[in-house]
Amino acid sequence: MTTVEFPVGGGYNAYIGPGAASLFSREAQAAFPGGRCALIADANLPSAHIRAAQDALGPGCTLMPLNVSEAQKTLEKASEIYAFLNDAGFTRADGAVILGGGVTGDTAAFAAATYLRGIPFILAPTTVVSQTDSAYGGKTGVDHAGCKNRIGVFAHPKAVVCDVDFLKTLPERERVCGMGEVIKYGAIADPGILERVSRGAPDEALISTCVRIKRGFVAQDEHDTGERRILNFGHTVGHAIEAACGFAVSHGQAVAYGMLAAVRLGERLGVTRAGVFDALLSACEKAGLDTDFEPRLSPALPYLRRDKKSDGANLDFILLEKLGRPVRKKLPFGDAEKLLGSIAAQGR
Ligand code: GLY
Repeated sequence: MTTVEFPVGGGYNAYIGPGAASLFSREAQAAFPGGRCALIADANLPSAHIRAAQDALGPGCTLMPLNVSEAQKTLEKASEIYAFLNDAGFTRADGAVILGGGVTGDTAAFAAATYLRGIPFILAPTTVVSQTDSAYGGKTGVDHAGCKNRIGVFAHPKAVVCDVDFLKTLPERERVCGMGEVIKYGAIADPGILERVSRGAPDEALISTCVRIKRGFVAQDEHDTGERRILNFGHTVGHAIEAACGFAVSHGQAVAYGMLAAVRLGERLGVTRAGVFDALLSACEKAGLDTDFEPRLSPALPYLRRDKKSDGANLDFILLEKLGRPVRKKLPFGDAEKLLGSIAAQGR
């Protein structure tokens, strides 16, 4: 088992490895001493995972199965969680264990962080996206009016229990799409990751590599005002692609399209060296991701201005000089739309 310490939010650990779910009971007792525990679990998980978590947490645990997709990651969904916690009489002495992928984690952690101005929670990520990225660093939130993560708060978990065995039952498409986030870490920080990408699930070592990189960014810039924005590589265009298709394209796949688009953009701006595009393309292909990003760009252009990191006139793009060397670049809306439009028109 690998332990990665996050020096934020009072300090907490991420436990990564096969069988990490055996830590549920210990971590819940430490996080909610004497309190009850709500197990908020993705209703679409194999029932054996949910039962095992319930058994581990014991009789003080009350289950709330949560049915939520990216298209339903809304305040209404958070309200369902508030109603459950309120009706069951949960107080600040109690806490939540959140079992599921990025959408479950973002929504339920947001609800936990705002119910009674915040009750403690533990995240137990079950997908590649959540195990390598979204469960760490304290971002919680929901979408609003077609804009990704428009409403949210920074709130850190008491612990992240990342059992890589959950990936064994993950549907193949979801596993493949999640590799978009893994490739992102290779692109921005550790090009060696690109050699370790495959169609299979990432193992403890690869997940831990990504999490340690994330820890470095979060420790420097907890509230995402500067350096942490580098983790947004591929996300500016990726989020616009997700919104444009009503979230029919999954997050990790959209990030993959967004990274390829960002590299082409960097080439047009004279920032990105030759060879970067081919290296990323080949990593995406190796992982089984679709790389046909150009047709996705035109429909996404009108959604770019809604990016929450825009300052009202410019988009904050993350570009690559080369693999492992990201740069931040502000681009006026019109310039970004024109350049991306021309990349779309040119095709491959
Ligand atoms: N997923 C990017 C971040 O947490 O900043």
